[in-house]
Amino acid sequence: MNINGQELREKFLQYFKNNNHAIISSASLIPENDPTVLFTTAGMHPLVPYLMGEKHPSGTRLADVQKCWRTGDIEEVGDTTHHTFFEMLGNWSLGDYDKMGAIDFAWEFLTKILEIDPKFLAFTIFEGDKNVTKDTVALDKWLSLGVSEKRVKALGVDDNWWGPAGTSGPCGPDTEIFYWTGDKNNVPVEYDPKDKNWVEIWNNVFMEYNKTLAGQFLPLAQKNIDTGMGLERTLAVLNNLADNYLTDLFYPLIQKIEELSGKRYAEDTKSFRVIADHLRSATFLLGDPKGIAPSNTGQGYVLRRVIRRAIRFAKNLNIQAGFTTILAQVVIDNFKTTYPELEKNQTFIFTELQKEEEKFSKSLSKGLKILQTQLEVHAVVPGQKVNIVDISDGFVPHYLTSKFLFDMYQDHGFPFEESIEEIKKIRPNLHVIQINNLKKGFDELMVQHQELSRTASAGMFKGGLADDSEMSKKYHTATHLLHQALRTVLGDHVEQRGSNINAERMRFDFVHPDKMTPEQIKQAEDLVNQQIQAKLPMTWQEMTVEEAKNKGAIGLFGHKYGEKVKVYTVGNDDEFFSREICGGPHVENTSELGHFKIQKEESSSAGIRRIKAILE
Ligand code: SER
Repeated sequence: MNINGQELREKFLQYFKNNNHAIISSASLIPENDPTVLFTTAGMHPLVPYLMGEKHPSGTRLADVQKCWRTGDIEEVGDTTHHTFFEMLGNWSLGDYDKMGAIDFAWEFLTKILEIDPKFLAFTIFEGDKNVTKDTVALDKWLSLGVSEKRVKALGVDDNWWGPAGTSGPCGPDTEIFYWTGDKNNVPVEYDPKDKNWVEIWNNVFMEYNKTLAGQFLPLAQKNIDTGMGLERTLAVLNNLADNYLTDLFYPLIQKIEELSGKRYAEDTKSFRVIADHLRSATFLLGDPKGIAPSNTGQGYVLRRVIRRAIRFAKNLNIQAGFTTILAQVVIDNFKTTYPELEKNQTFIFTELQKEEEKFSKSLSKGLKILQTQLEVHAVVPGQKVNIVDISDGFVPHYLTSKFLFDMYQDHGFPFEESIEEIKKIRPNLHVIQINNLKKGFDELMVQHQELSRTASAGMFKGGLADDSEMSKKYHTATHLLHQALRTVLGDHVEQRGSNINAERMRFDFVHPDKMTPEQIKQAEDLVNQQIQAKLPMTWQEMTVEEAKNKGAIGLFGHKYGEKVKVYTVGNDDEFFSREICGGPHVENTSELGHFKIQKEESSSAGIRRIKAILE
């Protein structure tokens, strides 16, 4: 079937809409008030509270296309299928239809709507372990649809168990669907999990258990269905393309890179893919409704890393400076219909990319100077390993460490080979004689570093997706009060741009062009404390976005016309201090908050201020 990205999104949503699912908007890439996760990593991620039993305003059947961003895959980007940013098509049953229903939907969508011949499909189910028995229900269901037994394989927890997203919470067995991408005239009768020609296109998770902190698997009162289908990969297989970058989600970028470099994609697929993936994902982060700028911490640091990695690979292709905004323009043009926020935030995207290109170029020059100095001061101490010799001075030995080369990479953006090349340029008479040892040490440091950052992001993901501790509820409530207080003091141009809460403090980013004066800070702080002292009730109601708007709610970004949302009000229905669209959870009365104190007001990025505050 020839189908493009937009058609696949539409077919998917239309099919589930026809089957009584509410279509919800993609949530932001920056998780709401969740300090433990950098990015939204899966379609289920913004829905965790509802999978745990909270009522969703749009009902018990949902479907969406969710923007996702995964940091674990950054170094793997460059092959045919790994991406940092991707879109996940998903449908959910929150205690509504069961496993059989989910399988029926998946089957009908794939074989009838997308017209995939079942002879190209294979399935896996959970084989059972000491906690949970084999999933014979899913097995029998696939067989009842006419699937051959040889095409359904039972596998263990590593393959067919999903979640919990944290250390505890909803999880369950899954059934995965694979598509044969090999020779269409030679489809194996039996499914072989090791054969890479079978590509996973869809995962159906049966979230039927709650894993307790003690490690027990207890049946959930509300049995959920959570499904995820990667848009990029599914599009590639449907169009018989061996490579996600040849789909219309990437190909305009590949063409532009060919134009800018004068090279063909086939000449250096890895560099092309890294540049295309990273500038696409950077554009989506910068253009997100809660858009973030490159920085040295958290999400901003990941953003900085992908932009700089793209620039380094662009050097491989001899692409001129200034290319990042040209490619961002291609991304905006390609995705603005689905994600209008990209066009809305175009100026911010361009300015930040330009600034980052310039900063990186400065950092490279600084790195070169450090390299030069290193080559001047190189006296060899007895016992040190000699890595370089200067043949002009009659084999004077020099010293260079893998650690130094790794720092050159990490701090200044020089890949190993580039440092060596620069050494040769700066001191043509220097010969690196232990290059293999140096490279080995460098690679080891690289692996250590990657493991550290992977653990850090896995730890963050595990830490508290469902962190609804009392303290975070209080801080979460305080953000609503502060948001309104800032609008009262500074004006209605104030809009929340992000927030980050843990048990000790809150951080709140908002649109405002100038530094706040001490008086303004005091006014905002006092206003929040007045609401706390007034012991105002906090209540919530479900309504459509339009109703919310008519009732004076703020926080309207990113929702579709007619979509149902949860609206939190501080005060009474007709006389309130704050009214805001939000997912929750919050305290029931502002008196629970104690005393609010602003500790710092600073710049976060261009036009965005940041407040750090505590409750004491
Ligand atoms: N949560 C599952 C996944 O990420 C299905 O959506 O694959």
